[in-house]
Amino acid sequence: MKERLQKIREEAIAKIQSSDSLERLNEIKVAILGKKGELTEVLKGMKDVAAEERPVIGQLVNDTRAVIEAKLEEVKDELSRAAREARLKSEVIDVTLPAKKNNVGHRHPNTIALEELQRIFVGMGYEVVEGPEVEYDYYNFEALNIPANHPAKDEQDTFYINDKIVLRTQTSPVQVRVMEKGKLPIRMIAPGRVFRSDEVDATHSPSFHQVEGLVIDKNITFADLKGTLAQFAKELFGENTKVKFRPHHFPFTEPSAEMDVTCFKCGGKGCRMCKDSGWIEILGCGMVHPNVLKMSKINPEEYTGFAFGIGLERIALLKYEIDDMRLLYENDIRFLKQF
Ligand code: DAH
Repeated sequence: MKERLQKIREEAIAKIQSSDSLERLNEIKVAILGKKGELTEVLKGMKDVAAEERPVIGQLVNDTRAVIEAKLEEVKDELSRAAREARLKSEVIDVTLPAKKNNVGHRHPNTIALEELQRIFVGMGYEVVEGPEVEYDYYNFEALNIPANHPAKDEQDTFYINDKIVLRTQTSPVQVRVMEKGKLPIRMIAPGRVFRSDEVDATHSPSFHQVEGLVIDKNITFADLKGTLAQFAKELFGENTKVKFRPHHFPFTEPSAEMDVTCFKCGGKGCRMCKDSGWIEILGCGMVHPNVLKMSKINPEEYTGFAFGIGLERIALLKYEIDDMRLLYENDIRFLKQF
């Protein structure tokens, strides 16, 4: 019995020492210490051992087991350490390799122009509000003093969803939506997308953007309109910018005007940018028509106001000297990156 144990022990140590993987080590463990392992078999044979020898043999079996287990543990540690080192070596990162290029997007010229406009008007205490792109005919036309058969409706022919609902042709309906709420005074701008059934060319697109403006309070006059929009033009195009107002017609304002600014390229001398006129048209404006106020339940005897509408693309094209509107919609990153 003693010899057998001695043999098991020597063979086990030899096998464990020559084992080259954790799996192999586990196999050895099972073969010796497992349920049907060699050492377990010896234990089962204890009943054949003479009673007086049992304690000695028992002790011997335990010692053998302990030695084998200690050896298993030791080699297991060595193998794990070696495996970890091998992994660290194989997964080493070459910090000298050039980094992968991270292509970050770029703000669209429209967005840059809008943020600039918002900065200017918010600085003057205006609130930024939004209205729906799919709008009732009532808000887009009726409530803006453009009744069913008005010729101005023709000019802004649009996409009809049904008799009562259209894709808005202008941001002006947001004026009505804000006035209707009945919270006065009002000082707001409303940027957003608008739609018209226009053919695409260098200056037209069936979908573009406007920024609407509306101020309603007691004692608002055309002088407020002029002062506000002149200041806006200076902040947008430079301190030396002058403005001029040409009479115009919009159904929802009376009087109405279009505002031109001195060409920021030539300072008013005349160049290609301003088609030699020295002036560039940038927006429509006027004093809110009493009919419009009345329809929105505001008393025109008590309150007056002014409104304006700016074409956002037009500002972006002018400011960044882009000569074709279509470039704004192609979203070619090489184009967008320049601004
Ligand atoms: N809604 C007009 C358009 O699309 C632009 C406009 C003109 C808006 C005068 C206004 C305004 O608020 O007062 O042509």
